[in-house]
Amino acid sequence: MPQHQRFDNIGAFLEALDRAGELRTVSDPVSPVLEISRYTDAESKSPGGGKALLFRKVKGSEFPVATNLFGSDKRICMALGVDRIDDLAERLRALITMKPPKGLRDMLHLLPTALQVTSFFPRRFKGKTAPCQEVVYLGNEADLRRLPVLHCWPKDGGPFITLPLVFTKSLVNGIRNVGMYRMQVYDARTTGMHWHIHKDGSSNFSEYRKAGKRMPVAVAIGADPATIYAATAPMPRHADELLLAGFIRKHPVTLTPCLTVDLEVPAEAEFVIEGTVDPEEMRIEGPFGDHTGYYSLADLYPVFRVTAITHRRRPVYCATLVGKPPMEDCYLAKVTERLFLPLLQTVFPEIVNYWLPWEGVFHNIVVVAIEKAYPLHAQKIMSGLWGQGQMSFCKAIVVVDADVDPTDGRKVMAVLLKNLDVESDITVNRGILDALDHSSPTPHYGHKIGIDLTRRISGEPPRAKMRTSAGRTIGPEAVAAGFSAIDGVFRWRELALSEREGCRRVVLVSVEKPGNRSGKWYAERLLSEERLSEIDLFVLYDTSIELTDNSLVLWKLFNNTDPGRDLVIREGRAVVDACRKDASDGHLRQWPEELSFEE
Ligand SMILES: Cc1cc2nc3c(=O)[nH]c(=O)nc-3n(C[C@H](O)[C@H](O)[C@H](O)COP(=O)(O)O)c2cc1C
Repeated sequence: MPQHQRFDNIGAFLEALDRAGELRTVSDPVSPVLEISRYTDAESKSPGGGKALLFRKVKGSEFPVATNLFGSDKRICMALGVDRIDDLAERLRALITMKPPKGLRDMLHLLPTALQVTSFFPRRFKGKTAPCQEVVYLGNEADLRRLPVLHCWPKDGGPFITLPLVFTKSLVNGIRNVGMYRMQVYDARTTGMHWHIHKDGSSNFSEYRKAGKRMPVAVAIGADPATIYAATAPMPRHADELLLAGFIRKHPVTLTPCLTVDLEVPAEAEFVIEGTVDPEEMRIEGPFGDHTGYYSLADLYPVFRVTAITHRRRPVYCATLVGKPPMEDCYLAKVTERLFLPLLQTVFPEIVNYWLPWEGVFHNIVVVAIEKAYPLHAQKIMSGLWGQGQMSFCKAIVVVDADVDPTDGRKVMAVLLKNLDVESDITVNRGILDALDHSSPTPHYGHKIGIDLTRRISGEPPRAKMRTSAGRTIGPEAVAAGFSAIDGVFRWRELALSEREGCRRVVLVSVEKPGNRSGKWYAERLLSEERLSEIDLFVLYDTSIELTDNSLVLWKLFNNTDPGRDLVIREGRAVVDACRKDASDGHLRQWPEELSFEE
């Protein structure tokens, strides 16, 4: 076996996982309604992401189901044929920073790379019948109910296809797009099409809508692993994701024409669903448990009508479960984080590294380290990132200096406690948000926060002076009495650094929020209480939150706050409200429920 095997389909990948001891097979009959998802949730939450799961007997369907295929560092590296995801990023960097040849020697040197590039482009399947079309159902014969589509969470709006590769084409220039957008199964031949408004599938759909034309769509389930990943990658509009898959595989993706629509799909797919989306038909989609850890709210989305279903002779239905991180999709997102760093650095060479922690569920926070060169350089990076592709969904951007490792959460927190001056380090802005964001009072847009933790340089005004512990006059008993004096404060915990000298004091506070008490109500009291006047930053949580669970408090902070509404800054001190919101906070749309298997 070569050191890194290239997988052309899911069958080959499953075999390799089995050989590597990375596959757990479940042979007892299981239900696609909540049972497979419970198994998958427990497995993916076990240390290191557990094993991939293959359910051989699924009630109500003749097809086996595979989940958690990519949900560990080892499996995602196996899937993409690398030892470390950073190796892929380095290959990409070498390619995009290639210098023009100066002579024959250089030319010869470049030849292997040039030849490799030609292998990135997808190719046509040459045989008689593509594997994905070994079995064909057309028209009324095409029945989605034969597929073991999962019902994932108890309060989901129904079953949905969780790992679909949705192929569309621009009506304007014919360029292909593949994106992963969940598809709620309404009945035998109808699904929802949950491409968010900011995504390329939706942009292609807008072109058809404008032209009043029915849009051809083809959906592959299961393909070679690199193509599955590529469908999730935030490639620029009109850049073909299959080129990225070819680059990762060092081998082209093989495509075959669909039978009922003018599109091509991976010949090695397990299933293909062909159909069309009517430009005017919309239907309520959701709610569904989502990777935010909440049920994403039901909303109107386009409807996909099936014209054909084709599959391999013995297909495996590939699925995933999204929920509170870390889950399988975090490993897919990690590939994007690493792979897109060299691309981002072509636009912002001063970016040394960055990190999108799981607690931020991909779009809520990015910590970025820069080689700072001039006043307000950090603000330039914030503005730039807020305008870059899907990075523009990012709600919070924290900028640190190049000598701080942005992937080390403890170090970043230490820099924050040492440096943060809420009056001068914070920029609050407005912009687009991921469709899944629930914290903003308005869907699809809201407030963003930039936090500049870089050292001040010549030309920038200094930060406000830090109070040292020697300068403190209020003892711990008085602080405790100060919290007790505020009606509704339930518990509190001060974030401690080993070295407290010259640090901001940050306290997590759990508070009861009956209908009439907003975050601002608490902010007013906390900031006015004399005995709490040496606390610099308060973060409010619902009483159900365990304040000692660092991951939980960060997840709640990034998910639940709209920085424009939920941040109060006064005279160098601040309160952030990370509680759930309701009308008393001015939040008039629905607040989603947190995911749980307990009904
Ligand atoms: C498991 C999984 C499910 C996803 N579901 C959706 C979805 O339902 N809608 C959506 O717009 N994006 C979804 N995404 C994110 C998109 O796949 C991702 O943003 C991708 O870059 C979109 O492709 P596009 O830029 O070509 O539109 C999902 C990602 C994963 C990993």
